[in-house]
Amino acid sequence: MPRRLWDIYLKLEPLDVKVLRVIEKGLSKYEFVPLEYIERRIRASPTRVNRSLDKLNELKLIRRYVGHTTGYTLTYMGLDILALSALVAREVISRLGDTIGVGKEGRIYLAESPAGDLVVVKFHREGRRSFQHIRKLRSYAMQVPRKSWFRVAKLVGEREFKVLAALKDEGAKVPNPIAWNRHAVVQEFIPGVELYRVRDLSVDEAEKILNDIIDTLAIAYQRVGVVHGDLSEYNVLVTEDIEAYIIDWPQFVYKDEPGADELLLRDVRYIANFFKRKYRIQVDIGEILKRVRGG
Ligand SMILES: Nc1ncnc2c1ncn2[C@@H]1O[C@H](COP(=O)(O)OP(=O)(O)O)[C@@H](O)[C@H]1O
Ligand SMILES: [Mg+2]
Repeated sequence: MPRRLWDIYLKLEPLDVKVLRVIEKGLSKYEFVPLEYIERRIRASPTRVNRSLDKLNELKLIRRYVGHTTGYTLTYMGLDILALSALVAREVISRLGDTIGVGKEGRIYLAESPAGDLVVVKFHREGRRSFQHIRKLRSYAMQVPRKSWFRVAKLVGEREFKVLAALKDEGAKVPNPIAWNRHAVVQEFIPGVELYRVRDLSVDEAEKILNDIIDTLAIAYQRVGVVHGDLSEYNVLVTEDIEAYIIDWPQFVYKDEPGADELLLRDVRYIANFFKRKYRIQVDIGEILKRVRGG
């Protein structure tokens, strides 16, 4: 049973976070950051630095390598803590709550903002779809420096934040992005359930949801120039008053990228089949594609 990230965060003192930050910085130069590098950059006695390193190691935020010299690397949880601590310092969130779903590569938490709003924090792991060339390397993970995995996760975070901001600007029904730091994206909490779990919809309600989805796809395509690329009944949240939001955008592709048309067709087919199967709504894929593409 993994310990809660917030509980771990609360155990840390400023010096511990500082040590994590120094190790993160050192990873741009070293695969394992030497002890001397850390000691040189921290104004504290070697005893205190070593005590902090022991503690971080025990909490599994760093990993120690002992060879002819001693070095340290950051774990994903260590990176989570760094993002978390930056988001708290920036007063984006004041408390991290429970996870709301362990995704394939992201870990998603509920959190509270200083104003008392519920928000969602998504910590990305390495990418998928759009980073498949890197994914293929996964079996060689031991040979890939940790910093490249972190770099990809950070890029995915930035991608998700920026595309949500662009979509929201154009009036799409997607979660409002609030902030991002490193590989972590903070977004508005949508009080709803995934489309696949919604029960007892009337045909009218199902049609309304389908229309919301098509409208968002059309805004994405025509005004932002992107295709979702992983649309399904798992990535649509439906609120109590039957508003449908499309979530989970980091694998989007630009509409002029190779393969974009196939992905759009796939997205539309997926969603059309869902409504056909579950609600017996007859949908014309060509019609939907026309609405999404416009003109
Ligand atoms: N903004 C949000 N508001 C409410 N719930 C969310 C939000 N973002 C994600 N979730 C929940 O977390 C789950 C996984 O999120 P998602 O963005 O689809 O990531 P992934 O599929 O990569 O794990 C969703 O199915 C949903 O239950
Ligand atoms: Mg998802």
